[in-house]
Amino acid sequence: MSFHVVAQVSDIPVGQRKLVEVKGREVVIFNHEGEFFAILNRCPHQGAALCEGPLIGLAQSTTPGEIEYTKLGEIIRCPWHGWEFDVRTGQSYCDPRRFRVKAYAAHVEAGASVVKGPYVAETLNVSVENDYVVVDL
Ligand code: FES
Repeated sequence: MSFHVVAQVSDIPVGQRKLVEVKGREVVIFNHEGEFFAILNRCPHQGAALCEGPLIGLAQSTTPGEIEYTKLGEIIRCPWHGWEFDVRTGQSYCDPRRFRVKAYAAHVEAGASVVKGPYVAETLNVSVENDYVVVDL
């Protein structure tokens, strides 16, 4: 696994998405309430760009007449034929055993840990021995 810096956090506001390219693959990054998720921008049905679909929730029913609406903003609906995928896992709600969209791990790193400046000052080891400061060269 290799890590790729794809955007600044401020580039993807809460509830929004951003299409990026990583190693020749189009990947959609979602910001859901401050959590970031990434999926391949290709529907496994016929290849539509998932980044163009609406973010919706999941309607489920265990009893006739009662519908529970969960995962609000976590389901992307394909813009072509309406298949639905969980942006957290890539799972399909059309046929979960056969179809899923590739999901990638995404997380936030502090800027200082991923973007280092090009200039590094030379440092030397310094120690104190009996009341004298000693520098290693
Ligand atoms: S291309 Fe996505 S559901 Fe058909």
